Parts: sequence; C-alpha cells; structure tokens
Amino acid sequence: MENRMLKIKKNMIIYRILLLVIFGGILFSCQTSEKDGNKSEFDVSSVIEKMTVEEKAQLVVGTGMYLPLPDSIKAMIPEGLRKELDTTTAYGKMVTRIRQYLPGTAGVTAEFPKYGITSQTLADGPAGLRISPVREGKEGTFYATAFPIATVLASTWDTKLIENIGQAIGEEVLEYGADILLAPGLNLQRDPLNGRNFEYYSEDPLVTGKMAAAMVNGIQSNGVGTSIKHYAVNNQETNRLSVNTILSERALREMYLKGFEIAVKESQPWTVMSSYNKVNGVYTSEDPELLTTILRDEWGFDGYVMTDWGGGSDIVAQLKAGNDMIQPGSPEQIQAVIAAVENGELEESILDTNVRRILSVMLRTPRFSDYQNSNKPDLEAHATLTRQAASDGMILLENKDKALPFSSSVKNIAAFGANSYDFISGGTGSGDVNEAYTVSLIEGLQNADYQVDSELQDIYTSYIKETRANQPPPENFLTALLGGKQPLPEMELDENIAKKMASNSDIALITIGRNAGEGDDRKPEAGDFYLNDKEKSLIKVVTEAFHAEGKKAIVILNIAGVIETASWKNVPDAILCSWLPGQEAGNSVVDILSGKVNPSGKLATSFPNSYEDAPTVENFPGNSVKGETDDKKDESGFSFMKREPWEVVYEEDIYVGYRYYQTFDVPVSYEFGYGKSYTSFEYSNLQLSTDSFTDQLEITVDVKNIGQVAGKEAIQVYLKAPTEKLEKPESQLIAFGKTSLLEPEAGESLSFTINAKDLASFDETNSRWLVEAGEYTIRIGASSQDIKLTDQISVSEDITVETVNKAMTPNREIEIMRQ
Ligand code: BGC
Repeated sequence: MENRMLKIKKNMIIYRILLLVIFGGILFSCQTSEKDGNKSEFDVSSVIEKMTVEEKAQLVVGTGMYLPLPDSIKAMIPEGLRKELDTTTAYGKMVTRIRQYLPGTAGVTAEFPKYGITSQTLADGPAGLRISPVREGKEGTFYATAFPIATVLASTWDTKLIENIGQAIGEEVLEYGADILLAPGLNLQRDPLNGRNFEYYSEDPLVTGKMAAAMVNGIQSNGVGTSIKHYAVNNQETNRLSVNTILSERALREMYLKGFEIAVKESQPWTVMSSYNKVNGVYTSEDPELLTTILRDEWGFDGYVMTDWGGGSDIVAQLKAGNDMIQPGSPEQIQAVIAAVENGELEESILDTNVRRILSVMLRTPRFSDYQNSNKPDLEAHATLTRQAASDGMILLENKDKALPFSSSVKNIAAFGANSYDFISGGTGSGDVNEAYTVSLIEGLQNADYQVDSELQDIYTSYIKETRANQPPPENFLTALLGGKQPLPEMELDENIAKKMASNSDIALITIGRNAGEGDDRKPEAGDFYLNDKEKSLIKVVTEAFHAEGKKAIVILNIAGVIETASWKNVPDAILCSWLPGQEAGNSVVDILSGKVNPSGKLATSFPNSYEDAPTVENFPGNSVKGETDDKKDESGFSFMKREPWEVVYEEDIYVGYRYYQTFDVPVSYEFGYGKSYTSFEYSNLQLSTDSFTDQLEITVDVKNIGQVAGKEAIQVYLKAPTEKLEKPESQLIAFGKTSLLEPEAGESLSFTINAKDLASFDETNSRWLVEAGEYTIRIGASSQDIKLTDQISVSEDITVETVNKAMTPNREIEIMRQ
C-alpha cells in the first residue's frame, strides 16, 4: 500500500511538472487583422460565415496558460520541452496582449478584433476570485476577498446568504475585469478524504444544487458568467486524469447529476466545465450523452462547455460531444482541429456549433460591452459579509455545561495549537484566493479586547517561525506552485506550561488545523483524518490542567474536511468546527466564542466514527487496472504523460453519506444536519396541504425560540418513501430552510413546496423518475436524526414524473460512443 502510494505520488509529481511545461506557453503563430468590428451589429451567424477554419480552431482552443515557474522547477524540465511564445507573429502579439488584461487568471480565449470578437477572461474560484495581487510595472494591489470555503457556505443552510456572497464575488469578477468565474464546484462529498471536498458543498445533492444555484444567480446578477464544475462524478484527486468511474444510472441521476440538474435549471450558468475523469468508460469531456443528451436536450442548458485544464484525450471527440472549448489549449490542438476538418473527421458544421455557443456567451460578457472596470470592488463591504457568512456556517459540535459563549468573567485567554496563530482561511491549489490578509484567531481575540497570554504567544510564535523556515516544500506540487497554506505540525507541549496557563488564564482555546487541495487526496492516517499523538495529548493535557483549576478548554477545528472526532470529543468542554472560514477567520470565530453571534451552522456532511465506517471505504480511491493507457489517442498535448489506467466502482450506489449511515444503522460521531445553538427551538403545528398526494404538497411548520438568546434555526424536511418497486434510503432530504434571527419567544412559520420530482426515485428499467404508490413519511428535523415532527401522505397510484433518455449505462461501449 505504502509503496503504491509513493509510486503514485512520484508519477503525479512528474506529470504535474510536465503539465506546467505545456501550460507554460507553447504557442504558435498565425495571422489576424487588428481592425475593430462593429459591436452593435454583431451577428453571430454572419461572423461565423466569415471566419476561416483556422480562426474557428483558434477560438475553440484556449490560448495556453502562463504560470511563472520558479527556477527550481525550471531546472527539472527536460531540455527541448520548454518553448516560449513567439511574440513576433500576429497571433503571438494577440496572445501577449490578452494575457495582460487580467494577470493571474487560469485562461483567456482568443480575440479577433476585425470581427468584433472579444476575449473572455476565465478566472478561478470558488472561494473568491483568483487573480494576481500585484502586477509588473503597476502601482497598487489587486487583492480579492477570500470568502469561506463552499463547505462553510453549505453549513449555513441559507440560500439567500449564499446569493449575497455570490453577488459580492461577482462584483469582484466584474470590477477586476474578468468575464467568467470558474466556479462553483458542485461535486458530491462522496468520501471524507477527497482532497477537494472543501471546494464542494455537501454529501447531499439537494443541498449542493440549491447552494450552487444561489451562488450562480448571485454571481451572474453582475452580468458576468460562471462555469459550474466539474461535470461530472469528479469525486477524487487520485489519478483524476485517467480514473474510470463505474456507477449505476440511478446513482448517477439521483446523486451525482442531481446538483448539476438543479443548478442548470434554476440558475442557467453561462458555462459548464467538464471534468477530468471518465464515467462508465467515456471521458466526460468526450461524452455526447452527458454533454448533449442530458445537459442540453433534457435540462435545456444553452451556454458552452469547456474542458477542465488538460482534461480528456481526443479533442475531436470532445468537440463532437458538445464540449465546445478545449482548455488551456496548445498549438498542436489548433492544428489537430484544422486537420480534422480538412480530412473530414470533423464536420465544419459541428465546429460552427461550438463557435456559435462560445460567441453567444461572449455577447453577454463585460469585455464585449466595453465595460470599464474600476479595479476597486467594495472590499470593505465584502470583508463584513465574509465575516458574517463564516460565523453563520460554523458548527458548534459540543458545548458541555454551556462552556460557550464565554462568560463575562473571561478576559484572559491562553491559545494553544500552532494554527491559533497561523489560522487557515482557505484550501490549496487553484481554489486558493490571493487575499490581502487572514485574521488569525489571536488577532480576532485582540480585536474583541480579550487578553491573549503573551508568554504562550511568544512560545508559539518562535516555534512557528522556526518551523516555517525549515518546512520542506509541500509534497503536493500544485500546492507548491499555486499556493495555499500548509498546516504546521503540532508542537510538543510542556505540561508545566499548560499548568501555568491554567492558573494565569480564564479559559483555553486549542486549534487543530488541516488543509487539503487539488492534486492529492487526504489519508486515513494520524495527522490527517485522525489526530496524531501530539494533538491528542495537547487536548488532554490542556483540558486536564484547566479543569484542575475549575476552568474550561475549547477546541476549534480549522479543517478543510471531515476528521475523526469520536475518540476524543468528550475530552474538551466545547468543540467549534470553523472549517476554513475565509479571510476574516479570527473575527468570525470570536464572534461565536464571545456570543456576539449565536451559532446556527449545521453539518452538510456526516462525521463518521471512523474512516472504516464510511460507505466508500472499500472503493476509494479505486485501483490500478490492466490495460492500455490512452496515450496513442491523446491529442490533448499531454500524450507523453502517463495516465495510469485506474478504476473506481461506486459500490455504495445511492447510499452516500447519511443515506448509508441511516439505512444500515451505522452510528456516526455527528450526523448530517447536526449543529448546536446557544438557544433552543420548539417545532410545532406541522401542516400538510393534503394527505393524498397527486402533484404538489405544501408543508408548513412553526418554529419558536424558547431559549434566552436570539438565534436562527435551519429546518430540514426528510422523506421516507415506500420500497415496493425500488429500494430507498431510510431518509433523504427533500427541502430545507432557515429562519430569520428570532428573538427569545419569537416564532416564524416556514413553508415548503414539494413537487412530484422531489418525491421521485430513478427507475433504471424504464428510464423514468417514479413516485411509487404507497405511504410516505414526512419528517421535520433539526438534523437528520433529531426529528421533531412527522406526518404521512399517501400516493394512490404510481406517478411517472418524467421519462428521460437511456444514457451513460455502466456497460456501454466506448467505441460506439465515439462514432
Ligand atoms: C482545476 C479546475 C480549475 C482549472 C483552472 C484545474 O486543474 O481542476 O478546477 O478551474 O485547473 O485553473
């Protein structure tokens, strides 16, 4: 196992270096005229008629990616592989020019001034706009706001708030001069160890889809675009470029496509990014069933699809399948498109369709309408918003004897754990935002006028300085190159220091840090999914020392993904899961600790008792399989890179996360939907508009704050459906909502509209969404297990809600698909 992992890691590092070489600027020359077209009269069809095949190819293929490589990495690149952009050609000049529009973005599409075709700037997200904060030869800085990671946003259960965050992110996209944000990410958190889980919302498809739709609506309200990603079934980083994911049609439709379906139908994203992986034997970017039959014909998507950076292997298959743009693009790919048209392999009419979709989106971009961006988004207002959203998404996991909020006698605080002083705001890789600052926990405490023990601060500060200075570069090459904070290994704590602090301070805070990101999955090991010995002992020693003085100890989880908590959660007095809360981190955490904000976040993902309990444990991240690599067919520009033939079978099928734990009675440490508050709520008066369902159901429920302080409550509606024809999970979320801030004694009535599709399951035999006849239980919960009210409805006969195409079956033949 160990050796295999090492080998995989080595291969991945080599691959990444080569990937960067390609991205680093292999460009070639061609001719364009510089004359401006007339924008007001831009007519897509007549422009397409005038464009040459070469120009069309240049538009559908990206213009390369520019990443300044550190010397250490340059030295590792084999001679002859690095090519510089030939800036003497017209194409070279054009590319040089468009790259200056917004430095630090992931990609730019070609411009053709003679036709009025403008470039589209594609910038990463999802936790904010990823651009370079400084520009060569330019005064000033261009920092973007690091918002809370998607997992925090989902934990707010507040779609209105997410839309507001989207609006703020979109304003930064617009005012810094980008056109399309490569976000949000809406893959399911299938396994706790996926390295990119932090970029995703939840293990539940409804939460995922609703959050993504709110985010897209917010961003696009600024007149800029989004690219929902990674479409689809991209649930791991291990061998992400070659993994073949095998899953049932039902799991695909009900779990992995559902979030995308909701987002497309409820927010019309301008673009979609296909993923790296294969699904049931076909690269997603080459799959007409996924990109045309399902996305366009069934869901009505009308934008363009782009590849993930370097995804797939056969660009002609991609263009034919409805993957309109190849990113980041290379000269060879442009030539391959031209050759394919010339030799009849690719009909020009298909290329025209790709071009038409790209141009139709272009007409909506700020650059096309000559928007004069200010470079001055309202960073101050966004900092306030991120501070609020982060505290709304933090989850109070434990709170013995009301350890939190701090009592008024708490003034002096001892902060343990290196990450208290070096808090992690966001994940690593392309999802890392270049923010101006991160408020550490210590700064947050000081901002709120708490005294932080300076002796302990000095000890940690010098430890951090020394450790950072000697810290080896991140093992994850993409982290090294694209950025993001590595957590610090924990310091061995002298017991006497803990005792001294316990007598000098009023309370202890202990921060446990974990980061993760693109390029690697996490490990089911101590120091990652599990706490290591130093961390366990830190929590124990500090808590015992403070308890001996009649004082409390609080743990803060500054983590990118789920960790094990069952074995130690009873030790401290309280546990607050802050995830990676964005740049206002310390302020947001202290707002909860001090009681300024009452926690209302609830988990959008389960915390299993151990990794062994996860439904995916046998099938993550999959296995190497015998077979040929795709190198022969590879026209992506990455053909010299080995893509290890790899396969993962989603044996757990639809039983992802809580659907599995509840159906198979597997106890968890913290269940989906769980989170504590400083107040309590009473649920009453559940009313259903009918007890015999035909096509719609209105549910109303009253929620009242019966505690002492104001608070908000996330309300969850679960369904238990009959299993006569199709098996079903014990429980599945069908709606949710959040109250406004309720003062003590105040109440609110929430209502939910349930349509037939919300009750339906996917019936593979008949390719339809089916509401089976029988009895349905509606459960109103404060969490997936804390059910407050229930009622029943019956369905007298089967309802076929929608019949869809037979598509993406596990046994389909790749060759047939590529015809
Ligand atoms: C990531 C995408 C990202 C793209 C551009 C890829 O490696 O998977 O999420 O948008 O790079 O940076």
